[in-house]
Amino acid sequence: MRMTEISPAPLGRLFDREPRMPDGMKVDYDGLIPNNVGLSEDVRVRRALETWHPGYIDWWKTMGPEGFQEALVYLRTAVGVGAEGWARFDYVKMPDYRWGILLAPKVEGRTIPFGAHKGEPAWQEVPAECRAMLRRLLVIQGDTEPASVEQQRHLGATAPSQYDLRNLFQVNVEEGRHLWAMVYLLQKYFGRDGREEAEELLRRRSGDADTPRMLGAFNERTPDWLSFFMFTFFTDRDGKMQLAALAQSGFDPLSRTCRFMLTEEAHHMFVGETGIARIIQRTCEAMRGAGIDDPTDIDRVRALGVIDLPTIQKKANLHFSLTLDLFGSEISTNAANAFNAGIKGRYHEDRLTDDHQLLGDTYPVLRLKDGAIVREEVPALSSLNMRLRDDFVADAAAGVARWNRVLQRAEVPFRITLPHVAFNRRIGEFAVVHADCEGALLDDAAWAGRRETMLPSADDYRFVASLMQPVSERGAFAGWIAPPRIGIDNKPGDFEYVKIEG
Ligand SMILES: [Fe+2]
Ligand SMILES: [Fe+2]
Repeated sequence: MRMTEISPAPLGRLFDREPRMPDGMKVDYDGLIPNNVGLSEDVRVRRALETWHPGYIDWWKTMGPEGFQEALVYLRTAVGVGAEGWARFDYVKMPDYRWGILLAPKVEGRTIPFGAHKGEPAWQEVPAECRAMLRRLLVIQGDTEPASVEQQRHLGATAPSQYDLRNLFQVNVEEGRHLWAMVYLLQKYFGRDGREEAEELLRRRSGDADTPRMLGAFNERTPDWLSFFMFTFFTDRDGKMQLAALAQSGFDPLSRTCRFMLTEEAHHMFVGETGIARIIQRTCEAMRGAGIDDPTDIDRVRALGVIDLPTIQKKANLHFSLTLDLFGSEISTNAANAFNAGIKGRYHEDRLTDDHQLLGDTYPVLRLKDGAIVREEVPALSSLNMRLRDDFVADAAAGVARWNRVLQRAEVPFRITLPHVAFNRRIGEFAVVHADCEGALLDDAAWAGRRETMLPSADDYRFVASLMQPVSERGAFAGWIAPPRIGIDNKPGDFEYVKIEG
């Protein structure tokens, strides 16, 4: 078996020295499916994946990026899993992207870090009693990956620049790879059940009335680029939190899979965070140029062809609240069971200093009691969803603070805020009430009256849609978004990230 070595030419663009690849971290690029899991010797799983492959390519061609299947896109492909450089950049037609199975290096002597089996050797096979639970977790995670590709498939037609178009496609191919990652685990460890689940993952469709994706936020539309950036900022961050919790798993192959997925996920949140920052920056520049001091003077700001800050806030409110629903109910026996069993840990479990079993511990949870929102101490094991959601909110708030620094530097008197966790919820404690962005409960009439001040209105959608005109010349950007500070792979501003003619 030949291990692909990275050729010096592309490396020179990326690294100042050749990355070292210890044994077991090299990726075999010889077969149909690039991998570092020894597929060439694992005939059963290789055949299962090769059988699944054509259906995946069919799915990609019909449900992947619309109109760009033949374009040459400057993409990064993972060529190793080491910390010091793992990607190579080159022009690729997306259907030819080398989707592969990549696990982070094995940690020798790793033990289960939490739960009833804490301290025992990590499992290399699925313990019989965890089978159903683990399969369900893999399927739910796996389902989100193709779902977001489906949600974003129309966006290529309105990209504000080649740079953004390329970033969209990078996110899309990596979500495709994340599907491969989950399908590998299903096919390797769950036999026929796993193969059936893998087929189902290609059958469901985002937003479909009969066969929708499994989670609500992944059936919503992503109608414009403002939504796309909010989605990658908030919803991909849910992905990060879930993967971080699963990266702690006592089931070692899942842990290693998720650790490598997290490396890719960071870029998705970068796309979202910098995308919104660039929109805010452009709006501030246009307002200053026109001498507009009042950010709520929406008509005048919109007349400049940029997105007014209150609309950006409303989109943030929407995507934040949709994403909170992905964490499930605040109080959950499933979450407690998964933790106890050693399957799903907490965010940064390995950095926490408690006993990692939580048997007598409590955790503060916001609940709805007698028509009021109150904080209540709840057994820590039952409130693990809530805890992960709190970690998510803190992580998102740090990104929002960076957006606000753009506003501060521009001396524009407006700050983006995260709404209260009770706002606009469909799942959990607050699904049965209406609350405003500050968490004050509203009756139906008050909600209906104020809804459009807190969530995007039909008019807001129309305005944003009116700005979505494609800009495809090299180095050019739509008027509503500032160029990035640096190019991908340090490329100059006029770099051709996407060659349309192929
Ligand atoms: Fe993903
Ligand atoms: Fe992602």
